This record gives sequence, structure tokens and C-alpha cells, in this order.
Amino acid sequence: MSEFSYTTKALYSGEKVCGMDLSPETIPCFLTTAFTMRGFKEVQDTYANKGYTYVRTRNPNRTALGEVISCLEGGEESLIFSSGMGAITSTLMTLLDRGDHVICNSNIYGETYSVMTQVLGKCGVEITFADYQNTENIAAAIRPETKLIYSEVLSNPTLTLVDLKAVAELAHQHGALFMVDNTFTTPIAIRPIEFGADIVINSLTKFMNGHSDAIGGSITTTAALCGKIQPMAMLLGTPGDPFSSWLIQRGVNTASLRLPQAMHTAEKLAKALAAHKHVSKVNHPSLPDYPQKMLADRMFGKNGCCAMLSFIVPEDLEKIDQFMLSLRFPRYAPTLGGLHTTLSHPVTSSHMGVPDETRRKMGITPGMIRVSVGIEDPDDLAADFENALKVFD
Ligand SMILES: Cc1ncc(COP(=O)(O)O)c(C=O)c1O
Repeated sequence: MSEFSYTTKALYSGEKVCGMDLSPETIPCFLTTAFTMRGFKEVQDTYANKGYTYVRTRNPNRTALGEVISCLEGGEESLIFSSGMGAITSTLMTLLDRGDHVICNSNIYGETYSVMTQVLGKCGVEITFADYQNTENIAAAIRPETKLIYSEVLSNPTLTLVDLKAVAELAHQHGALFMVDNTFTTPIAIRPIEFGADIVINSLTKFMNGHSDAIGGSITTTAALCGKIQPMAMLLGTPGDPFSSWLIQRGVNTASLRLPQAMHTAEKLAKALAAHKHVSKVNHPSLPDYPQKMLADRMFGKNGCCAMLSFIVPEDLEKIDQFMLSLRFPRYAPTLGGLHTTLSHPVTSSHMGVPDETRRKMGITPGMIRVSVGIEDPDDLAADFENALKVFD
């Protein structure tokens, strides 16, 4: 390089370092906006073989993360997005056209609800919301133009369960696709594809990454559908960036160890709270009085059902505030799915805009606290909650 100028040398030094063509033990982060080619033949071959060109089109970190997600969800192929919402919007924008009809669970994540009503509404897609606790409500909403049936596995924050097998059968009888959000439950607890779901979406920002340091989303479905969704995602600008994909892959690689622990801790905490004198109700599918217990036992495997739970204390906001301040470990956080236990108060956050009467019908009262359980020792965590609940004495 000695024959070139200082500026040129500075630009090309380090281009070929020892190790560039070795097989690293773990996947490196490909922080590059593009991959270069040396001539027309290579350019043609790369495009023809869907190789790596520009970062928004394809990137090895998204490919690698997609492979792990496909393995965990038991699906053919996965695509990686900039967020859970990116995964949801890109998929819906690909699959739905003006005049199509969608049936959506009325108990759904607030921003998914807004996508259905605001974004799809603008595109001329009609939506019917139905209470999925009774599959007959879905059957009654089906029309000839119903293209998609959408649900989460467990609803936030009441943890009501959807009979995935029954809904998948219904969808397929009528030629509709069944799309399931597995964010709360994760494939470590349940794999919706095994129950007949056609498309599974995950917000990787939550339990799947688990380390609360990256935002991302995924969809898992057939290679044919991924082939349609990928070009739309590229146009919408929703594919995940390499660094977040790399970080999330680190998290996802340990999901099958972390999540059974978190779900076990959640079960123990649910049991301890259910026995507490100041707690009138605990929502968690592991409890014997869970209203859909038989369905839960049929659907969830040996790893557990969910690391989320909610419980009801007296409707005294001042005391609830004192309770939160008294906890040693959990902090309030407007997210879920981290290594540390966090909590939220649905009436003053996620369900703030819902009228009180409607909220109460949904089982959400000012005394409800939602908990995302981490990987703390179950006894330490239960003792912390029991101690903080003394503020209600
Ligand atoms: C069930 C569910 N789905 C989707 C999302 C959206 O995920 P993200 O925040 O990664 O866009 C969330 C976010 O909280 C969620 O709780």
C-alpha cells in the first residue's frame, strides 16, 4: 500500500486482516450497510441467488436470528423486523387488500388494536372484533371476504386463553389465515404452528431477547409467505438492523434455559399471592381456579405457561403507590420480558383510555397490578411481594 496516498491508505488499511476468512465461534455482527461485488458476473449471481446486497434487503445477522426463531417456533422460515409492530404491520400490509375482512380478538395489545382500526381502516380493510373466549363468536363474525383471523395466545393483562386449535380449524374451514401473537407466551411455552396457526409473530423486544436492551420483531410462516412479506418489509423499511439482530440472537440462544426458570418463578409467585389476605384475585393459568384450566392444561407443555401474571389488591391508589415503593426488587416499567421482575398498573398506563365500565367488564380494576416475572429466586421474590403487601394492613 506504500504507493498510495495517506488518505487512500487510511481508507483501505485493515481491509484484509488475519481471521477474516476463519470460522468464528460465534456469529460476528455484520455492521455494514452493503456487501461489495467485483464485477457484473458476481453482481448478477448475487442478485439471482438472493445473496447479500443492501442492508435493508438482507443481512447475515437477520438470517441467523431468523433461523433460530424458525427452530424455536417449529416453522419453515422467519423474517426479522425492527420491532414487533414492524412485523405486524408489514405482514398485514402484504396479506390484505381493499375489501378484505379481518376478525380480531377484542382483547388485544393496544397498538395492535390501533393498527387494525386506524391503519387497516385507511386501506379499506374491514375489521370485526370478537370475544375469543367463545369460539362461536368468531364463527358468527365470518364473512365470505374474511381473509385473516388474528389473536394473541393469552390476553394482556387478564391472561384469558384462546383455543388455538379450534380457531385454526375454523379459519381453515373458511379459507382464512390464522395469525397468532406469541409475545407473552413465547415458543418455549407454546408453538402456535403445532396448533394450526399459519403465521406467528413475536415482539423480540420482550422475553425472547430477555435482556431489555434491543427492539425487534419476527414472523414465522411458510417460505412462500415469507417470500411475499420480505419485499413489502423492504419497501416499508421495517427490517431489523444488524446490531439489534445480533444482540437479540444472544438472548434468544438462552431462551430455552431462561424462560422455564421465569415461568417457574411466576407459578410460585402466583401461588403465594393467591394465598395472601390482601389479594382478591390472581390471574395465571397455573392456578387451580383459573377459569380455563382444562384448556390451559391441554395447551401448555412441561416448561410452564407464561411468566406474566396479574393480581388485584384493594382499590386505593395511594396504598398501591406505597406498595410499589416498598418492593425491594421489582420496579415499574412500561415493558415486559426482562431478566428482572417488573410491574405495571394497567388502569394508569396501557388501559388509561378505556372507560372504567368497559375496563371493569374486562376484569381490569384500579386495584390490578400486572407483573412480568424475571429469573429471581422464587422464594426471594414471593417474600418481597409479601413484605410490600403489608402496606394494606
Ligand atoms: C403482545 C404484544 N405484541 C406486540 C407488541 C409490539 O412489540 P414492539 O414494542 O417490539 O413493537 C407488544 C409490545 O408491548 C406486545 O405486548
